[in-house]
Amino acid sequence: MGSTNGTRKREKAITVGLVRRETSRRDVDEHLDELNQLLETAGGEVVARVVANRKSPDPSTWIGSGKAGEIQALVDRHGAALVVFDDDLSPAQVRNLEKIVAAKVVDRSGLILDIFARRARTREARTQVELAQLNYLLPRLTRQWSHLSRQAGGIGTRGVGETQLEIDRRIIRTRIARLREELSKIERNRETQRKARRNVFTVALVGYTNAGKSTLFNQLTRGDVEAIDQLFATLDAKVQKMHFAMPRPTVVIDTVGFIRKLPHHLVASFRSTMEEAVSADLVLHLIDASHPQAEEQRAIGNEVLADLGIDPANVLEVYNKIDRLEEGYLPGISRAGAVAVSALRGTGIARLVEAIRERAMRDGATLHLEIPFDQSRLIAELHEVAEVYEESTVDGSLHVVAWVPRQRLHRFDRFAAGEMEAAGTH
Ligand code: GTP
Repeated sequence: MGSTNGTRKREKAITVGLVRRETSRRDVDEHLDELNQLLETAGGEVVARVVANRKSPDPSTWIGSGKAGEIQALVDRHGAALVVFDDDLSPAQVRNLEKIVAAKVVDRSGLILDIFARRARTREARTQVELAQLNYLLPRLTRQWSHLSRQAGGIGTRGVGETQLEIDRRIIRTRIARLREELSKIERNRETQRKARRNVFTVALVGYTNAGKSTLFNQLTRGDVEAIDQLFATLDAKVQKMHFAMPRPTVVIDTVGFIRKLPHHLVASFRSTMEEAVSADLVLHLIDASHPQAEEQRAIGNEVLADLGIDPANVLEVYNKIDRLEEGYLPGISRAGAVAVSALRGTGIARLVEAIRERAMRDGATLHLEIPFDQSRLIAELHEVAEVYEESTVDGSLHVVAWVPRQRLHRFDRFAAGEMEAAGTH
């Protein structure tokens, strides 16, 4: 995962932001910080960053031709191959800018798509990425638009095969339709998998990129998912069994990180990578408490979760990296229900596990049942709805230890020989 950058020479790049009437210099700086991080994730090296000031964007060059000329001088001085704009540009603006700066021009969407293309591993993610790329490409595919074929291979141009760059809109549309079909097939498949996990308690980890999801995932599962300090280390949902004893089988799902200013058309394309979180029983919203904009990130995260239709009652806020905080300063942590941890050091993990356990108990119970064999319909129902851990035959009855969802408890009550305490079942 982290080695992808090692094999190729890093492309030198200049990043560009624009301060307008409605944006502050501070916002633009923060967005450029993130853009620089994204660029490094994509295998680029930032050699200069430029901030332009205008009341409103210039229609033909976004930043104005004077500023574009300055960038051209920087391209020359640093030998940069790439200029990345923090905002989305129109195809015409890209063409005009490329003429002036004499380097490849990529906008924020193009860069994010490139990262998605690099990180996509499963068939689903690859299909989604290709779909998003083609949708992005389609309006830019004009007679004059040829920079992809000229520059194929660098940042912003990966993922879509070269042959596709030469084909016309009609073929791209056909391909888009096919990819959509494929995606819905993959989704149906996933639905089957999800049904198979019906009685398993699912915990999804969500949060802003770099909040520490992979690190916490490792703490909770003790699996061997690499935690690397790069955005999008986790494009696909990863699923692993909870390491700690739970009242019922529990899996933890790692999801793709939120990203600020994710272009709207990409949100839709990547929504389904978050489907796992939507259907999870519990969503852990991880917030980097040591980040200067922790509260803002929390708010953005909550917006994303609300957009996805996730019920706030199923969300548990987890403040991470508390080892980095000055003692006593814990923004928002006093909020009801929030848990504070250091995923890196393992601080607070026991408390978090306890909170997860409590949630897992909420919507059902583990029962010890003794059901006579003449209750064959009920036994069949039990196997259908419950999670059976132990099963034996004693004097014409079936003795089972099983987790039963709350809405079905009444069906089995009369055969209950006792309720179990949170039994270790992992
Ligand atoms: P993406 O995959 O990019 O979405 O990131 P992520 O949320 O999975 O974050 P990851 O676990 O990769 O952690 C990002 C960085 O934060 C790594 O350098 C971690 O070592 C560091 N980190 C994670 N948890 C903690 C923590 O509790 N304390 C400190 N000090 N650093 C942490």
